[in-house]
Amino acid sequence: MKVLVVGSGGREHALAWKIAQSPEVEEVLIAPGNAGTARVGRNVPVAADDLDGLTRLARDEGVGLAVIGPEGPLCAGLADRLRGRGVDVFGPGAEGARLEGSKVHAKEFLQRYRIPSAAGRRFDRSGAAKSYLESQTTWPQVVKADGLAAGKGVFVVPDARAGCAAIDQVMEERSLGEAGAQVLIEEFLAGEEISVLAVTDGEALLILDPVVDHKQVGEGDTGPNTGGMGVYSPANVLNRRQMRQIEQHILVPTLHGLRREEVEYRGCLFVGLMLTESGPRVLEYNCRFGDPEVQAVVRRLRGDLVPYLRATARGELAQLEGPAWDPRTCVGVVAASEGYPGSYRKGDLVDGLDEAEEDPDVVVFHAGTVARPEGVATDGGRVLCVTALGDGLTAAREKAYAAYDRIRWQGKFCRRDIGLRHAATPARPAQAGGATPGAPPAGGA
Ligand code: AMP
Ligand code: GLY
Repeated sequence: MKVLVVGSGGREHALAWKIAQSPEVEEVLIAPGNAGTARVGRNVPVAADDLDGLTRLARDEGVGLAVIGPEGPLCAGLADRLRGRGVDVFGPGAEGARLEGSKVHAKEFLQRYRIPSAAGRRFDRSGAAKSYLESQTTWPQVVKADGLAAGKGVFVVPDARAGCAAIDQVMEERSLGEAGAQVLIEEFLAGEEISVLAVTDGEALLILDPVVDHKQVGEGDTGPNTGGMGVYSPANVLNRRQMRQIEQHILVPTLHGLRREEVEYRGCLFVGLMLTESGPRVLEYNCRFGDPEVQAVVRRLRGDLVPYLRATARGELAQLEGPAWDPRTCVGVVAASEGYPGSYRKGDLVDGLDEAEEDPDVVVFHAGTVARPEGVATDGGRVLCVTALGDGLTAAREKAYAAYDRIRWQGKFCRRDIGLRHAATPARPAQAGGATPGAPPAGGA
């Protein structure tokens, strides 16, 4: 079987790397891919947002399974297009992807099914949004642009002045384009943030071991938000009771709501959660695998990923047993270009990639890289993610940073504190369960 992976980031390299190991897979095509994906499959120069080109590619190459990485093409309806041509697709159609594509839609969905999340209100006029903020007495508040904004649409604001400036920027100046036509103003939630990725065909639910991402660019969680500066998994910040709450009060009611609204959802449902004092609450839905979260997932997944992807695409997930996990901890450290998440330099040659992978527990996934005749060059803000497996968080951290330090280019930087805050917390047993039928919750809406 030929498998098409759509996208060009670390997520797509990690997926292609794992998929290429499957005995069922004859070839992995990556559109458009990066310098790392070219080493595990064949890059095809079709952009991830070129729906016509990708549909033609799938037909011409006889692709048996398509795995769509990024949210953009999912929200634009690529999965619907490919399914319409008879291709098995891992990834929801446009209607399901709206859970990520519109924060207003997601908030209304959460409220409709009484799924715990921050209190929030929607505004389509900046004047009303600013008056609402000026009437608030508790700070900070959170201002979110409605549409897709590549992580740049959320502003945690300390006072009304900062909030009104964010609203002006998003709604009046349209700094994020049409994504800022509406905003959501949310209550600020305090707690530990966690990523829970579940694979679902709309009926069965396979919850993967939770992952802790580090969203802010600066050490100690300071500075602007990014796509994610590093991860570790399994997460030792939550217990089995909280995991059950997440399943029963968040994931299962979400599937129930989707079914009730006749939305067929086949792919990854990735929920960003805050573990608050009053229980886990949804920060956001994502309609795809997290990046770099999925890099830790594929490093720890034992056995073949392809049967899960295909069964999800075909609505047959309930037939599979849950996978086995490597009991070790995975740490992933993102190596970024100076300036990220603002404007950054590109085109610097990267040295030391082979040396970094001399440790058999280390795999370096590429994100913003391009293959040049003279070698691998930087081509994005997040350039690489160095992943390492170790017995516990401290050992995995040491291996990841030792490998990171062997990689060189002008202006490389990382956060040195990935997993550090939790390194002293004892490891917890793997949390993930098998594929369970997504039964409607007792008393669900
Ligand atoms: P989102 O894209 O909605 O996940 O927001 C990006 C980041 O902003 C999240 O990963 C959180 O770190 C932070 N954030 C979003 N919503 C809230 C909230 N209601 N309270 C506190 N932090 C938030
Ligand atoms: N790492 C967070 C995300 O993929 O959205």
